[in-house]
Amino acid sequence: MTVTKDLAATPEGLAHAAQILRAGGLVAFPTETVYGLGGDARNDHAVAGIFAAKARPQFNPLIVHVPDLDAARRYAEFDARAEALAGAFWPGPLTLVLPLRPDGGLSPLVTAGLASVAIRVPAHPVAQAFLRAFDGPLAAPSANPSGRVSPTRADHVRAGLAGRIDAILDGGPCAVGVESTIIGLDGTPALLRPGGLPVEVLEAALGQSLAIGGDAQKPSAPGQLASHYAPGAAVRLEATKAEGDEVFVGFGPGPDAALTLSDSGDLVEAAARLFHILREADAMAGPSGRISFAPIPEVGLGRAINDRLRRAAAPRS
Ligand code: TXA
Ligand code: MG
Repeated sequence: MTVTKDLAATPEGLAHAAQILRAGGLVAFPTETVYGLGGDARNDHAVAGIFAAKARPQFNPLIVHVPDLDAARRYAEFDARAEALAGAFWPGPLTLVLPLRPDGGLSPLVTAGLASVAIRVPAHPVAQAFLRAFDGPLAAPSANPSGRVSPTRADHVRAGLAGRIDAILDGGPCAVGVESTIIGLDGTPALLRPGGLPVEVLEAALGQSLAIGGDAQKPSAPGQLASHYAPGAAVRLEATKAEGDEVFVGFGPGPDAALTLSDSGDLVEAAARLFHILREADAMAGPSGRISFAPIPEVGLGRAINDRLRRAAAPRS
């Protein structure tokens, strides 16, 4: 159990909050839409901690928050349409899903292994000051336990997450009160989630209407789930040891394993390593090879890990 500090949006409070992020900790902070639960988007362990604190049963991709368009260009590819929308509506309640820059250094857990990234520049002055004090990309879903309503005041955050996060930066009530509008621009422009910025305003700026992009919780467009993190090798779950020439991935103490998600059986460590291990095991096994995974307990982050492993093991066409 962590003691959750209350920090005021003063220069000292902001410096303290930024220091917590640099140490890999989690800080809830105000945006103009809702409070976000922020962690360093380059730090696998911090991002795994966000999923653990929210008790999310799946590794949905998270939004990366940056202070301005220049910072956003380090992590995503901007085409003319993306430049136009960012120029018109940032800072503000608009999130753009764009092709990920592989050299940007984001944790693969932030993007859930997808080749795209959701990115936004919040307008709230405390969010802006916090991002500038931290000087890095901030992964931040809404600061509520999974399945509960999004918080629009610091005391909502405290009611849901006290004891699970390091600090709450208080910036008063959120003005917009609903999440940002999410537009997918990694293909045909599509509305992935309605939100604080009206669709009509966006369509007018784009000069075209937006496709309805389906369920943003489950990116399903071809090529999205079959991303570069989906192994080419066949995957077997609940394995007790390697059979034949399998690359066996262990968890906790057990039989000899080529790789391990966590030697000590720590689920946060396993989540932090998951996407890297999927890649490494795939490279070791080769395209016609086989990978097997030791059982992961179906509790806490184990549920999200198992969800991802089941997808990796599902038959592919
Ligand atoms: O207003 C907001 O956007 C708040 C504040 C804190 O900024 N943040 C927020 O984040 O709502 P989150 O993580 O709860 O919402 C992320 C949404 C999810 O629906 C997710 O599926 C979608 O963004 N998303 C993220 N990356 C994506 C991607 N690469 N492709 C498609 N959808 C994506
Ligand atoms: Mg949410």
